[in-house]
Amino acid sequence: MNILPFFLLALLSLTTAQYYTHRPKPSQPAFEHDQQYKKLHRVYEWKNIQYGFPSEREREEVLRSGRYNPDSPIPIDIDVYYPPQGGAVRHFITTPRFGQGVPYSLAYVTQVQRENGSEIQAYPSYDWHKTHGGDCDGLTSVYRVHIDACGQMWILDSGEIEFVQHCAPQVVVIDLATNQLIHRYRLPEDTFKAKVSRFVTILADIQDPPPQGVCKDAYVYMADPTSKAIVVYDVKGNRSWRVENKFTYPDARFGTLTVAGESFELLDGALALAITPNGLGLRRHLIFHALSNELELAIPLDVLQNSTRWQQGISSSLQEFVTLGRRGVQCAAHAISRRGFWFCGFLEPIGIFGWNIQTPYARPNLQLLALNPDTLQFVSGMKIVTRPSDGQEELWLLSNRLQKVFGGTIDYKEINYRVQRCDVDDMLQGRGCAGS
Ligand SMILES: *[C@@H]1O[C@H](CO)[C@@H](O)[C@H](O)[C@H]1NC(C)=O
Ligand SMILES: *[C@@H]1O[C@H](CO)[C@@H](O)[C@H](O)[C@H]1NC(C)=O
Ligand SMILES: *[C@@H]1O[C@H](CO)[C@@H](O)[C@H](O)[C@H]1NC(C)=O
Repeated sequence: MNILPFFLLALLSLTTAQYYTHRPKPSQPAFEHDQQYKKLHRVYEWKNIQYGFPSEREREEVLRSGRYNPDSPIPIDIDVYYPPQGGAVRHFITTPRFGQGVPYSLAYVTQVQRENGSEIQAYPSYDWHKTHGGDCDGLTSVYRVHIDACGQMWILDSGEIEFVQHCAPQVVVIDLATNQLIHRYRLPEDTFKAKVSRFVTILADIQDPPPQGVCKDAYVYMADPTSKAIVVYDVKGNRSWRVENKFTYPDARFGTLTVAGESFELLDGALALAITPNGLGLRRHLIFHALSNELELAIPLDVLQNSTRWQQGISSSLQEFVTLGRRGVQCAAHAISRRGFWFCGFLEPIGIFGWNIQTPYARPNLQLLALNPDTLQFVSGMKIVTRPSDGQEELWLLSNRLQKVFGGTIDYKEINYRVQRCDVDDMLQGRGCAGS
């Protein structure tokens, strides 16, 4: 029996007209609760992020000057690097400078255990971060990163702290084998809005992947939820352009985010980005959503990559957007596996949901894979990483209880931040997640 390309059917049958005609009231989703909590493998846990410094003197100095306030940092993202020739795996986290008091915003996790969690160290080095916006050749505030198949880390630096634009937003690429800078691109002024923009998510779609290619040719997609746009960067062409329209916007009805009974307000546009894989025989799309919205959307990559199709501002290429479906609830970061399974952490119920992108995006096909109202509160970082030893894909996620940050209810006697992992196949087949 041949497999129906449901995704293709969905793309043909769902039109933007449905975006207007079908507007149900937001309601509690009626997902079946799986009483058996599937446990993800816990890799790191923190009560509070534990910063390492080049010296104790430096720690004391930044504590005194207010450049380090232990109550200020909140981790957002996780990514993982397996050196291709073996060697120790490296885990990177980001702690953006939402406010003052964050000593650095990109770090790797060390094996040093401190009282309230594992110690982190600045990446690529402390010098890249220490001026807090004073050095635009360094890093000002990193929200998310993307590690590609060539071991290059694509770093998105928003350039701002508390919406003061110290430097232009930039893409910085570091070769993880050598820890050297190999590429930098500063966003031109027509692609961002100073004091409004906050670039938070980056995805590099490599056009020349290994083993033949060297990952020098890429289209990079960046989400700016506060100015409500996606920016496309054509690396080879040395150009970038904005995509901003009603599909990259929030829906005010989803502007209240509620996690475990605590609510906060956010009107964030496009935030989560993922690309449909090669090899499914389908036209490739960017699948994306705004944080403060229930819609899951898609746009063909060939349309995004053609800058002349984005010259009409908010009216550009509207007919090319596809409304895949609605969740009835928000979810933040998402990722897609190479066989076309999408994962996202829903706010209610508090769990990880999976969806086969070749089926319609609708309740029966949105499957609850892991449920844990305690350890999965606000999954803001999610990546799928291929383990070189056996080629298996791993789902990695970082959760941070963002509602407690907004509400001022965070309790540093509890575990607040977690990095967890599960093999994608274990996740989909409902097996327990293998340990380390
Ligand atoms: C890319 O474009 C910018 C601005 O147009 C220019 O200053 C820069 O030299 C270009 N870089 C390369 C590698 O061509
Ligand atoms: C880009 O889009 C324009 C306008 O729709 C079209 O004329 C052109 O052929 C496209 N270019 C490519 C490379 O597809
Ligand atoms: C660990 O957390 C406790 C409880 O909040 C706090 O009193 C202590 O100062 C923290 N220690 C470190 C090293 O952060």
